[in-house]
Amino acid sequence: MQNKGLKFFIRTYGCQMNDRDSEALAGLLIEKGFKLVGNVFSADVILINTCSVRKHAEQRVLSFLGTLKGLKKQKNRIIGLIGCMAKNRGEELFKKLSYLDLIIAPSNFDRIPYYLEKITKEKIRIIDLEERKREEFFYHSSFRFDSSSAYVVISTGCSNFCSYCIVPFTRGKLRIRDYHDIIEEIKRNVDMGIKKITLLGQNVNDYVFRISKDKVINFVDLLARIEKIEGIEEIDFITSHPKNTTKDLFFLMASSKKIKKHLHLPFQSGSNKILKLMRRGYTKEKYLELVEEYKKIVKGTISTDVIVGFPYEEEEDFLETEELLKRIKFKYAYIFKYSPRPHTEAFSWPDTVPLEEKEKRHALLLDLQRKISLCEKNS
Ligand code: 5AD
Ligand code: SF4
Repeated sequence: MQNKGLKFFIRTYGCQMNDRDSEALAGLLIEKGFKLVGNVFSADVILINTCSVRKHAEQRVLSFLGTLKGLKKQKNRIIGLIGCMAKNRGEELFKKLSYLDLIIAPSNFDRIPYYLEKITKEKIRIIDLEERKREEFFYHSSFRFDSSSAYVVISTGCSNFCSYCIVPFTRGKLRIRDYHDIIEEIKRNVDMGIKKITLLGQNVNDYVFRISKDKVINFVDLLARIEKIEGIEEIDFITSHPKNTTKDLFFLMASSKKIKKHLHLPFQSGSNKILKLMRRGYTKEKYLELVEEYKKIVKGTISTDVIVGFPYEEEEDFLETEELLKRIKFKYAYIFKYSPRPHTEAFSWPDTVPLEEKEKRHALLLDLQRKISLCEKNS
């Protein structure tokens, strides 16, 4: 095997799903004889696992790519751009940046060891943007960045098509991981001494696995079964979608000693007009009702994601978002300025809120949430 002993470096941008993807990929490469290094200068293979959710995330990667161009001049190395940005801008960057040897969409990380072998043998460049389900072996390695807690992917992609979101394009349609494979992976984590797990999916509540002709396992069933695994002490999950979150999840959370009493439930906007344009599938009233139920049944904490400056967001829409933040008192909230993303429905709409106004609204909410978070910590 040509690659034995080759040193690889991996840099990860973006979300927890990317962290887990980089970890699983690193494990796979280590099993194939590659050596993980923490220093980009000593690496023979440099992989950049990227994010496209907002333009800013891509700009950070582009500036890192500039540094790598110089590194490649010093010594010939394999440079790979992988993940969401590869899917979004791969074709263009493959043509423009001749120092990129490998461009791989998130669906095809399981093929990376094979491609690296091909590149070293045949001195070719490879781009693979196919949308498919990864082979299960991708998740088999025991390598973990953290030895006390682990991420476990339960589904990949998303089929909701919120009008602002690039994820259904970059990560593809919703694909459910086999229930048995998830349980096996968690048991392997337990065998390694890991007691805390976080289940990952763009919308975990969308999870439905057909186990037999007349029986399906939904997200709540899955959680209930994971709960019974001996050795697991804490279970967390992200992200929940308000349109699919149900009361039976809250009852399970309330009765469980293992499931963390915290819910990440993005509301995105407090205005029904904007929620409709975002294609979120719920109203402000429905969201509030859900939160009331959660607080009553689980008595846990809650966090959220908010976007300001979405197309057609007027001052009064923004004030409704501000009002919702004040009313619910989230433990923490991620607040984003709207960023038009290619391939999304909203991309073709005018970006009506000027940057200055977006920044003002963003700063206002950040400041408000900072104060709320401080009080929530003390209460
Ligand atoms: N612009 C700004 N924020 C976005 N998000 C997703 N797409 C965009 C976009 N185009 C935010 C949402 C989502 C979080 C992961 O990122 O709030 O919940
Ligand atoms: Fe994007 Fe909406 Fe899917 Fe979340 S649910 S990943 S915001 S399309």
